[in-house]
Amino acid sequence: MDITGYAFIAGGGSGIGRACAVGLAKDGAAGVLLADLNVDAARAVAAECNAAATSPTFVVDFIQLDITQEESVKHAVDHMLKLFGRADYCINCAGIGVETPRDIATADYSEFSRFLRIHVDGTFLLTRMMSAVMRAQEPKLIGSKDSGRGSSRGSIVILGSGSSFVATPSMVQYTTAKHAVLGLTKNAALDNAPHGIRVNCLCPSWADTPMIQRARDGGVDIDAYVNALVPLGRIATAEEVADTAIFLCSPRSSYVTGCGFIVDGGTTLTSHV
Ligand SMILES: NC(=O)c1ccc[n+]([C@@H]2O[C@H](COP(=O)([O-])OP(=O)(O)OC[C@H]3O[C@@H](n4cnc5c(N)ncnc54)[C@H](O)[C@@H]3O)[C@@H](O)[C@H]2O)c1
Repeated sequence: MDITGYAFIAGGGSGIGRACAVGLAKDGAAGVLLADLNVDAARAVAAECNAAATSPTFVVDFIQLDITQEESVKHAVDHMLKLFGRADYCINCAGIGVETPRDIATADYSEFSRFLRIHVDGTFLLTRMMSAVMRAQEPKLIGSKDSGRGSSRGSIVILGSGSSFVATPSMVQYTTAKHAVLGLTKNAALDNAPHGIRVNCLCPSWADTPMIQRARDGGVDIDAYVNALVPLGRIATAEEVADTAIFLCSPRSSYVTGCGFIVDGGTTLTSHV
């Protein structure tokens, strides 16, 4: 895949974001900026990227980001521009998972608000800023002049979930946040289309990451969910999800925008009755 541009990865210190970063480095990206609340984790992933990189001029850096804070988002995106001069791909993997499932009748309001703040407000702040940055940069021709694919100013990938489409018992905070993130994607895709910027929402069901491990540690029986609900019969690897994120960044998906791209081993195919 022609994936030779510069990537900003929010939540790049762990799980799917980490797999995206290492995958991009391996596939020939020119540079990656890892932005994460956990700066030590981002630093460690930067070292992994350096070891995996195939471009001889590859550059990686990391920065602390709290995606819920406007100033922090601005600071990280400014750093991206200082470092690379442009942002070809933005992948937003910053997020939290449900560790204490609660039925709607007893759901905790502050927990609900926390999910909306991180997933929805955070996605809004980063997508807004990245859209403005990408609009201001020169478009790049996709393939050869006569490829018919036009040109691109950038691609934004936002992590949604199977929960962007369906509900899971006792997870109202996550279902609500992930539905909102898909709506935000659609509007951002529509507004950005005339500017040659694609925006897509990547929607996995369960992928084996530290987020899922924390849910397991908290007593959520992820393996029972996977066994009962995933037709392919196993949890996804973080790399399988990252492969799709990289596809959505690459020119191979040049006609894909505004979609909720389901990567769920068939989880949402049936009603499971
Ligand atoms: N793992 C799954 O099964 C799964 C399934 C569907 C969707 N997702 C979504 O994918 C995304 C990544 O999940 P993951 O499994 O890789 O999780 P993870 O916990 O492994 O990684 C999430 C990263 O986000 C960072 N982060 C948390 N809050 C932040 C903030 N305020 N600002 C900046 N960074 C912050 C964390 O420090 C962490 O490095 C999330 O949006 C999650 O909801 C995951």
